[in-house]
Amino acid sequence: MARKKIIAGNWKMNMTPSEAVKLIETLKPLVKTDDADVVFCVPAIDIIPALEAAKGTNIEIGAENMYFEEKGAYTGEIAPAMLTDVGVKYVIIGHSERREYFAETNETVNKKVLKAFEHGITPIVCCGETLTQREQGVTMDFIRQQVKIAFLGVTAEQAKTAVIAYEPIWAIGTGKTATTEQAQEVCGGIRKCIAEIYDEATAEAIRIQYGGSVNAKTAPELFVQPDIDGGLVGGAALKPDFGQIVNWK
Ligand code: 13P
Repeated sequence: MARKKIIAGNWKMNMTPSEAVKLIETLKPLVKTDDADVVFCVPAIDIIPALEAAKGTNIEIGAENMYFEEKGAYTGEIAPAMLTDVGVKYVIIGHSERREYFAETNETVNKKVLKAFEHGITPIVCCGETLTQREQGVTMDFIRQQVKIAFLGVTAEQAKTAVIAYEPIWAIGTGKTATTEQAQEVCGGIRKCIAEIYDEATAEAIRIQYGGSVNAKTAPELFVQPDIDGGLVGGAALKPDFGQIVNWK
């Protein structure tokens, strides 16, 4: 069965709640499609107004992060049940910015992935190498390690529903998109890694996105690649261009 594309925006730390509502009003006619799942991952405080603004559309609202404990003395964190209570179905886990600035590790990513599944939230699990790692030729070693640890204890049935986002760090926010060959090579490598951990059926089912300076121009050539099932889009998700990315065909 062909995998349905999933095209997600990662708003990062942008858009106040009132700006979020305006942006969704602008984008909702532009991102209409039956061909792809469309997800807007927004800052925590924007989630409720965004859900309200997206009601009755094909836009799903996701979170950008979540904690791995149920509740309690974790000042500033968001619990999984807080997300499911309002209808959030997706959460980005382990974005490179969270790994770099907020001390997330493969181990915390794994805990969050397990917790997301426990609550029926689909994790968008991020991985990706630095420029140094690419230049040293260790890209795939590094990514395999990220993926293998992220999926420790995750069942095949759960993994089939997961989303992995391959985001080379050197391509994020730099305007430097990976070439289609580079992106396909790594996404294909990730799928092989999933086949090794689980089996071919799981590898065939899991959806793998590319992220890193995706724009309306680069999206079509990326999204036709056999192992690229959509994109995780930063800057361009805040603009009408996102409509073109979603309707890339
Ligand atoms: P840009 O599309 O702005 O490069 O960001 C990519 C990203 O980090 C999405 O998670």
